[in-house]
Amino acid sequence: MSVNISDVLDIVDSQNQWRGKETINLIASENVQSDAVKQIESNDFMGRYAEGHPNTAQQDNRYYEGTRYIDQIESMTTREIIKLAKCLQADVRPLSGNAANTAVALGILRGGDTVLVNSIEIGGHISHNPIGVVGRRIQVRGKVLTPGRENSISLHFWPATEDGYHLDAPKCVDLVEQTSPNMVILGKSLFLFPEPVKQIAEVCRAKNIPLLYDGAHVLGLILGGQFQNPFEEGAHFINGSTHKTFPGPQRGVILGNMATELEMKWWSSVDRGVMPGSSSSHHLHTLPGMLIAVREMAEFGREYAAQTITNAKALGQALTDEGVNVEAKEFGFTESHQLAIKVTNFGIAKELARSLSDKNNIITNYNMLPGDKDAKNPTGLRIGVQEMTRYGMKEGEMGELADLMKAGLQGKIVKDEVIKLRSRFTDVHFA
Ligand SMILES: Cc1ncc(COP(=O)(O)O)c(C=O)c1O
Repeated sequence: MSVNISDVLDIVDSQNQWRGKETINLIASENVQSDAVKQIESNDFMGRYAEGHPNTAQQDNRYYEGTRYIDQIESMTTREIIKLAKCLQADVRPLSGNAANTAVALGILRGGDTVLVNSIEIGGHISHNPIGVVGRRIQVRGKVLTPGRENSISLHFWPATEDGYHLDAPKCVDLVEQTSPNMVILGKSLFLFPEPVKQIAEVCRAKNIPLLYDGAHVLGLILGGQFQNPFEEGAHFINGSTHKTFPGPQRGVILGNMATELEMKWWSSVDRGVMPGSSSSHHLHTLPGMLIAVREMAEFGREYAAQTITNAKALGQALTDEGVNVEAKEFGFTESHQLAIKVTNFGIAKELARSLSDKNNIITNYNMLPGDKDAKNPTGLRIGVQEMTRYGMKEGEMGELADLMKAGLQGKIVKDEVIKLRSRFTDVHFA
């Protein structure tokens, strides 16, 4: 007798119908994959093991047999993403952006080290912060470093300008000079504008401090050539998620641009931070899809990233015209896929995000804005247009979307109109 799975199938069908066809998804950290990427994910690599690096004709680098085909896929993905990013190294094994950050932290940091990061209050990611992997870097002997205790990692936060959406470059440089950290991390989760990588990298390079740029959110924009290029500005590492503005399967990547002896030592340490530090085998079955996504980005990435940013700016303007408070208006709202919206004139952000989703099929997340103190009761919504752009929406649709969002924020029911708008955009573009 076969196992009854009809209830499981029903739930998955409901998800496919609701999130896949009837909602307008504005979660800034998500994306939709092309049919080619989705279809290739069901394959025999699922559940197989391939610890280590691909074997070559000259050298055995794996700890398991049976890896000849994943060796090919892993080598091709590494080679092709290096070419796309115009850098020197890539590790395509991290399971996600957080795992990539974990690998770098495990590789580079030791107890008592000092690290400069963006605080959560100005949009920094949890993994960089006291409760995340950087703050708690686990030592080799299994001891967890509790923030503030002896031998813990000492975190300092980058100083921001008054608007809260930019870093104050001269003050950041001073902080590097004063603290001589063991690593610096740039990049954020609420990420509207480029970071002052060039100014900070100059001093880091003079002092041999590794600079990690966490491009989890903006990887696709960088590889599409439409956001700052952290390597050209002097970063050593770029970490990314491969499923946000880079529209591949859910994984992570560490890119490197390192050549000197010291830098190669950092790369080797991070290699051990990936395996065995933060994973054994990676999720092999999703890697062929990542390779396809790399090729899609090589072909269409420039156009896709440019339209994404154009749409984000257009939505910022359209929402403003509707009387919605979009942050950073004086800076043109955004240079990325994201917008930050202050919703206090409509109600409580957490409740508004829930009612937009449940009553109107518009999916967002509540988010702290600069100046907020309580992560559970913030004043903002963070939205991103990368997924709707991939479904083919352009500036004109941003006006329609702004209308519907405003109505939803006012508590009106516009679900039918949302489903109707969405039904015009069902095919994945740029693939
Ligand atoms: C800046 C930043 N780094 C890392 C991550 C974690 O990435 P992932 O969800 O792929 O683990 C995120 C998640 O959104 C992020 O915003």
